[in-house]
Amino acid sequence: MYGELKEILEAHGQLHVLKWWNELDEAGRARLARQIGRIDWNLLSRAKEYSAKKRGTIAPIDGLDLEEIAARREEFFATGRGALRAGKVACVLLAGGQGTRLGSDAPKGTYDIGVTKPLYIFEQLIRNLQRAVSLCGAYVPLYVMTSEENDGATRAFFKEHSFFGYPQEEVSFFRQEMAPAVDFNGKLLMSAKDSLALSPNGNGGWYASLVRAGLADEAARRGVEWYNVFAVDNVLQRMADPVFVGATIASGRATGAKFVRKAYPEERVGVLCLEDGLPSVIEYYELNESMANARDGAGRLVYACGMTLNYLFRADVLREIASARLPVHVARKKVPCIDEMGVLTEPAAENGCKFETLILDMIRCAGSCLPFEVEREREFAPIKNRTGADSVDTARALLEKNGVQL
Ligand code: UTP
Repeated sequence: MYGELKEILEAHGQLHVLKWWNELDEAGRARLARQIGRIDWNLLSRAKEYSAKKRGTIAPIDGLDLEEIAARREEFFATGRGALRAGKVACVLLAGGQGTRLGSDAPKGTYDIGVTKPLYIFEQLIRNLQRAVSLCGAYVPLYVMTSEENDGATRAFFKEHSFFGYPQEEVSFFRQEMAPAVDFNGKLLMSAKDSLALSPNGNGGWYASLVRAGLADEAARRGVEWYNVFAVDNVLQRMADPVFVGATIASGRATGAKFVRKAYPEERVGVLCLEDGLPSVIEYYELNESMANARDGAGRLVYACGMTLNYLFRADVLREIASARLPVHVARKKVPCIDEMGVLTEPAAENGCKFETLILDMIRCAGSCLPFEVEREREFAPIKNRTGADSVDTARALLEKNGVQL
């Protein structure tokens, strides 16, 4: 085993990973070998390709605003409800993230946001889903993506709380892959003598992981034609929303994205637009000043489709783009790792890079997207931080505004 590993690591300039091999017991060696065997060596080179790539020509994208949606609400509702009742829509809850900004080691969905009684993030999401179920009169399959770090705790939590009243047979869990972190010289970091410093590989791998778990085939057998994919942290999230489903089907586009209108030009939110004619989400810092401030005849911001991370994807398109290589994003982070002496240290400053692919890049690969506006106050309460903007505090206030008793 040692010889094989040495050969692989030498080829990639990472031989230091075997520094403590002689000290490791059988289990430690097996663990390290397994992790090395699973490394996607292309990640690094793809990350370089992406950072060298320039943005194309940016233009505004046509979408449905609140007024247009209200005018066609009944038609969209009927189409969407029909699809949901026929079992053509499945939900995918992205819960593999680390939630580092929230600062809790437990899965983010298990976080209690209640005041007078417990209210867990997962619980609130299931309540929101139940509302769609009662509107449509049919249960929706729910696929929950976890990571190696939080899979056990997430499953146990759902079980302990009897799936918050959702039928257990409609819920499946699947694990995303992990990716290694490197230092600023590109050397793999280690979290122990027998372990690489690994972290979830981003939410862009959700479909590949669903396929790997055999669940995409299962969904196809069940007749699922659309996936509604959403983040764990927006507690006002409306998933399996018949109006959104109906509007996206009626548009003939391959994907749909719920957006909130950007409140002011400098707002730090990813914006959906066209890039070289294809739908694309660009970061707030990638919009130049004149674009960020551009307004239409009615005085509204032109680049205003702020992403809420609630997407619809047509299943046939996902199958087509499954092999597309998504760009790899590099994030500088504080990565706990062992030092030269093998002692675990918590870095005070950023000491390495993590690699992620992102779901928003799948929109571009899919080729077409319907931007669908939602009311911020009714559908967008993300919990990213413990306090301040997009925090437990702001989410609580918004939940209360929407009649949720805390
Ligand atoms: P974020 O980008 O907010 O990341 O995820 P995060 O890991 O939850 O939080 P921070 O940045 O560490 O504070 C947006 C959504 O994508 C999911 C998250 O669980 C959340 O629903 N996600 C993110 C994954 O499922 N896997 C990942 O690897 C990353």
